[in-house]
Parts: sequence; C-alpha cells; structure tokens
Amino acid sequence: MALTEEDLKNVPETGIDPENPGKYQGLLEDLQGNILKGHGRDYSVHLFLEWKADKVTEAKNWIQTFAKCYVTSAKQQADEALRYRQEGIPGKVFANFLLTRYGYEALGFKPFQVPKDQPFTMGMKNEQIRQDFLKDPEVKDWEAGFQKDIHALLLIADDNLINLLQTVNQICQSLRQVAVILHREDGFILRNKAGQVIEHFGFVDGVSQPLFIKRDIVRARTNDGNFSQWDPRASLDIILVKDYNGKTEDSYGSYLVYRKLEQNVKAFHEDQQKLAETLNIKNDLAGALVMGRFADGTPVTKSDIPTYAVTPTNNFNYDEDTAATKCPFQAHIRKTNPRGDTGRVESAPDFDEALRIERDHRIARRAVSYGEHDPTAKPTEGSGLLFLCFQADIENQFNFMQSRWANPDRFVDVGVGLDPVIGQPGKPKGDPKNVVSKWPTKWGECETKEYHFELWVKMKGGEYFFAPSISFLTSL
Ligand code: HEM
Repeated sequence: MALTEEDLKNVPETGIDPENPGKYQGLLEDLQGNILKGHGRDYSVHLFLEWKADKVTEAKNWIQTFAKCYVTSAKQQADEALRYRQEGIPGKVFANFLLTRYGYEALGFKPFQVPKDQPFTMGMKNEQIRQDFLKDPEVKDWEAGFQKDIHALLLIADDNLINLLQTVNQICQSLRQVAVILHREDGFILRNKAGQVIEHFGFVDGVSQPLFIKRDIVRARTNDGNFSQWDPRASLDIILVKDYNGKTEDSYGSYLVYRKLEQNVKAFHEDQQKLAETLNIKNDLAGALVMGRFADGTPVTKSDIPTYAVTPTNNFNYDEDTAATKCPFQAHIRKTNPRGDTGRVESAPDFDEALRIERDHRIARRAVSYGEHDPTAKPTEGSGLLFLCFQADIENQFNFMQSRWANPDRFVDVGVGLDPVIGQPGKPKGDPKNVVSKWPTKWGECETKEYHFELWVKMKGGEYFFAPSISFLTSL
C-alpha cells in the first residue's frame, strides 16, 4: 500500500531504518541518496548542463543510462555504508541527478508536469526573489556559468580523487552529444588537524542537522544527552515531496538550493581580531560570538571557552540565555536555528506551537568547500562554500531562513543586526540604515558594545533544483 502523508509526518520514534525499512522500503529504493543523509564522500564534482535543443530524445536516453549506471538510491547508499562498516569495502562512485524548471521544459514537459514549488518555478535569478527576498547581488555580477539558464546538475562524488576525475572525464565525453557543460565546480571536504570537517573560516561544520535515519538518531541520543534540550529528529515531510512523474506508488523527491558562497578568510579573521580588541576579549571568544560556536564546535551559549570535545554537542537551547548575553541573537547559528527564541516574542502563539513552526523551517545542509585545500591558508578570494541544502518547501525553508532570519536587522528583538556570516543587507556598505550590532563585553553579563562586523561571504551564483525519483529518470 502506498505511503500516506501521515506516514511522512509520523515516522517511527527512532527514525527510518534502511536495514529494516518496513513500509519505507519502496520509498528508499526510488529516492536519490544524499537527501536523508549526506553521501559523505571526500571529493565531488558538480556539472551544470544545458540540453541541446535539437537532441531531446537523445538527452532523455542519456539521462536514463546515467540514472541506471550512476545515480545512487537512498537504499543503495545505506547498504554501501553498512558494507563499508562491516567489511571495509568502499562504495561505488556516488551520483545525484537534478533538474531545474528550465530543464523540465527543455525536455518537453508541460508546466503542469513540473514540480510545483514557487521559488523553484521562478528560479533564483528572478528579480523578485533576488531583490526582495534574498538580497542577492545583481545577476550580471554572478560568475558567468551561473548567469545562463541551467537545465540540470550532476553531482558525482567519491573518496578516491583519481577515480572520480576519470569517471567525470568519461561522463563529460558521453555528454557532448546531448548537452553543453555550462559550468563546473569541484568540491571537497576540508578538515582541521584533528580530522574534523571544517569550513574555510576554520569552524567545525556539519554538526547540527535534522536527523531522519535510525543509526544517526540512536548515535546522537546515546552520545549527546538524550535530546534533553534539543531534539534533532525530523519527520520526512520537511524534506520529501511526492514526485508525480515517478513510476512507483512511493516515488518521492526533494528540492535542492545551490549557492556558491565565496569566503574572504583573511578579512574575516582580521575583523574577528578587531572585534576581540573592541570588546577586550580573547580572539576565540570573538569568533564564537560571530558564529555561535567556537571553532572547535563548542556552543558559546554553554561555555566561554572551547572544550575540544571530539564530537561537539548539539544538545542545547537558549532557555538560559534569553537576554542573549552569552550568545548574541545575531550569531550565525542562533539566527539560522533559534531553538525556541521565536516563541518568546510578544506576538508569538504559545511557546510549543512557535517551536513547532520554527522547527519546520529546518534544512538538510549538504555543503562542501571549494578552492584552497590548505586549512591554514587565508585566501581572500577563490575559496568558499558550495552551499547545498535539501527541503520540501523552498519558500518556507531556505528562503525563509535567509530572508526573514539572516538578512533583517530585526530578529526576535529590534536592532539585532544581520547574521554576520551570511546576512545580505541589500543596502550599500556604510548606509546609515545598516544596524550596527551589539556584542557582550563580558560573557553572561548585560554590558554591550557596538561593533560593525563586515560581511565576508559573497554570493557568486546559484539555482533551485529538484532531485526527482529514480523511476522517473530511468523511464524518460
Ligand atoms: C551551522 C558556517 C552558510 C544555515 C553552521 C556552523 C558553521 C556554519 C561553522 C556551525 C556548525 C554546525 O552546526 O553545523 C557557515 C558558513 C557559511 C554558511 C561559513 C557560508 C560561507 C549558511 C547558509 C545557511 C546556513 C547560506 C542557510 C541560509 C546553517 C544552519 C546551521 C548552520 C541551519 C545549523 C544551526 C543549528 O542548528 O544550530 N554554519 N554557514 N549556513 N548553518 Fe551555516
């Protein structure tokens, strides 16, 4: 029997178990990997394609073959991970295939057959989305490859770089007949000396995620305080939508937001040092006030020093920091996951309801770094994050997070200021209307000082995609 909306909403307490999937078996077999859980490969190549107008039938055949040979299902991803854990046998090259609205149309689909999400159908270059919501730079200032109408995205990933590059070469050769490769991004997992995954500013990344899969949930619950302060579990309806073009009764897909975000690492670190001097605090605490976690992942609302835990905790909320004297409201992780803060504003419904609504804005982040591979180098350009996130509703999830939480000055309280990592003001630098944030001079006490932390992340281009079911791709 087909899964119902209730089956997506009321998943088992312990999440979906791919080793024992029960009624979710069909869903996992027809769903692409990397959605419910990151693929975890160290290297990835992203190819952005435009189908050749006179080669539609050939393009469809090419997609069918690619899907059969390369695209990894959620079930296959989990089976390969199990084999790796038990026998040390690495998985095959991992692949995702995604389409834009233009991609569907170029393949001959009618508007009513295209996935319905509104931002997806409008595209990231749409003036209303760009200007009114996301406050992105003008499209003429994006990297050339992102300025064109992208039809499809191939994500190909492996732990063995040489194997990956050879596979990508073969795929590029075979694509020649049917598509133009508009753009290519090469991503990788950046690690610190302790082997933890970091982003270019040097902070441990990928700690807090919505969890869907049993093993992740059991691990988090046993290692991290039994979800006493933060429950990372999420139901499938925040990440999956029915794929009406799919050929099985449980064909699902997910929307992907893709953004190339350049990081000026040198300037960020200089600004962090100036903030430390202004507040007369240690440099690492200044960084923690900006990010909401120390570079090692320790949440600044819990501690004024880094604790160097091997796995940073995610079991915390801001209940004991409602005045934001330990973690400022504008800190990146507080703005992107307020953990109940929005239930404390006057206009909020009751706290539990506000928290429920807030939790529905969560996204599954699947970012990788690009550019410089040396984690100690401090590049000013050419390096950053290939930010990818999956969700069921772009408007209510990524777009909401960026436009209603990260960008505005007002958030939970008035005059909080922008998210100092990803905020985009939509106003020129130095504009008096840009709110200067207040920062605590002593951790846990009310005294604050004003400091204008500049924005060192620049959006270089992006697009909205849909990851269709595998049965759709293999039957085009
Ligand atoms: C968490 C860095 C872009 C949403 C984090 C963390 C770091 C980080 C270091 C803490 C570790 C963790 O919890 O995983 C960055 C950098 C970015 C960037 C350097 C850009 C270059 C974005 C964007 C969004 C976003 C564009 C969405 C609009 C989040 C969310 C969390 C997070 C939701 C988890 C918050 C929590 O649950 O506590 N980011 N991020 N990030 N980031 Fe970002």
